[in-house]
This record gives sequence, C-alpha cells and structure tokens, in this order.
Amino acid sequence: MQKEIILNVEDLRASVEGKEILQGINFKVAAGEVHAIMGPNGSGKSTFASVLAGNPKYDHISGKAEYMGKDILDMSIEDRAREGLFLGFQYPVEIPGVSMSNFMRLAVNEQRKYRGEEPLTAAQFLKLMRERAAVVELDAKLMNRAVNSGFSGGEKKRNEIFQMAMLQPKLALLDETDSGLDIDALRIVATGVNNLRSEENGIVLITHYQRLLDYIVPDYVHVLYKGRIIYSGDKELSLKLEKEGYDWLIKEYESK
Ligand SMILES: Nc1ncnc2c1ncn2[C@@H]1O[C@H](COP(=O)(O)OP(=O)(O)O)[C@@H](O)[C@H]1O
Ligand SMILES: [Mg+2]
Repeated sequence: MQKEIILNVEDLRASVEGKEILQGINFKVAAGEVHAIMGPNGSGKSTFASVLAGNPKYDHISGKAEYMGKDILDMSIEDRAREGLFLGFQYPVEIPGVSMSNFMRLAVNEQRKYRGEEPLTAAQFLKLMRERAAVVELDAKLMNRAVNSGFSGGEKKRNEIFQMAMLQPKLALLDETDSGLDIDALRIVATGVNNLRSEENGIVLITHYQRLLDYIVPDYVHVLYKGRIIYSGDKELSLKLEKEGYDWLIKEYESK
C-alpha cells in the first residue's frame, strides 16, 4: 500500500532580510517515518523550520511546501496547529497569568473542536494530562504555574515534549540545534518522540547531535548545506558524520 505523504516540500526557496537562505529544498515525509536533518552551523536548518512554522521574518520566494496535501505556507499559524502540526520551538513563550493546565486544556479542546470532536470534560482532561505528564516525568506541580514563566531550561524542554504528547500531532518538527541538550534533556526528547512514533504520523528532528540519534533511531538522515539537502542516507550516515565530520561530503558536493 502507498504510504500517506504528510509533508511534501519541492524546490523551496526562502529568504531572510533579503538574503536567500533556502536555495531549493526537496523533502518528503510519509506516515510512519522519522527523519533527521543535520548539517553544519548556518546551513539553514532553523530557517527551514521557521519557514514551515510561518515565522513572518522569513519570505517565501518560490517552490512549495504541502502538509497533508494543503499549501502550508498559505495557512495561518493557528490553522497549522489545528491541522496537527507541532513545531517544538514555537511555544517557548512565557504566558503570565495562564496556568499550564488551562493553556493545554484550551489547546487540546480547540484541536478537538476543529476535528468536529466533543471537548474533553475536566475529569477526562485531568486524566489525560496526568498520563502524558508521567511519560515525560513532568512534575504535576508545574501544571499550576504560568506557562513557561520561571521554568528552567530542563523544565521548558520537558514542557515542550509534554505539549507534544498532549496534542499527538500528525507531524512533529523539533529543532534541537541550539538548545544545548544535556543528557537529561536528550532522554526527555527521546522518550517523547519514541512514544509519539507510530505508523500514522511523521517526525522531523533537526539536530546537531548524533547522540540524540542513539536514542531515536531515524529512518532517514539528511544533510543540509547552503540551503539545500545535499545528501541523504540512513542511520549509518549520522554515525559516519560523527566520526568524519561534514568535510568529505562538502568537498564531494563542491566538486560537482
Ligand atoms: N533572522 C535572521 N536575520 C538575518 N539572518 C538570518 C536570520 N535567520 C537566519 N539567518 C541567516 O541564515 C543562515 C542560516 O541560518 P540558520 O537557519 O539559523 O542555520 P542553522 O540552523 O543550520 O545553523 C545564516 O547565515 C544566518 O545568519
Ligand atoms: Mg539552527
């Protein structure tokens, strides 16, 4: 059976502050797949994530990005979330005065409403929240605190993965490049991702750290360089990159 295509990016070009960063990205994610995007600093990994997230600083030049067959670049940021797209770095904002549990209840019920499902009752929500918080070992006390305010780096990371576990997205895209993941954070991300992983959804991990890929074994590994995916392989590729760095690949690419 043909696998459902969740994300389809073709020849995507985008700029920031007038400078073309993404220079023709081709990238496909089908249901059941976990993809890792790696690459040297400044190659455009976070830019790619930001364009998919709809960050207004980034301008689409040409090419397409479809999520579940719909033009994602044309969707409002709210609709991207409602449609089941989860972008990890999108929610690190602090929301004073709104508790985590209220925030999540709103988010979950808004998504259910969008899908034509009944909202969860308070009791149902509480049960779900407890289950999912346990998965990422998130302290239940955090739920009563305002969203992200005064959270430590580790708590923010747990919180992000908790949100993902609550929303059970169709596609999760996590940019772990700059988060300086310590071993604890690595474990949390890995647990969350491995729990989410199923035949129904897709996961894209942008990561600098091959270490993370010891905990989450990706189906595909891609190397982004100068705004293009210049090489794709499987888990073995990330191990080779760890040993040999990117130079051999870049040389090969530049000589073509
Ligand atoms: N907001 C921005 N303003 C100016 N330049 C940016 C901005 N975001 C990214 N860039 C530039 O785009 C290039 C790619 O950056 P980025 O996507 O962050 O790379 P990576 O995540 O692979 O390290 C870099 O040259 C960076 O300086
Ligand atoms: Mg980055």
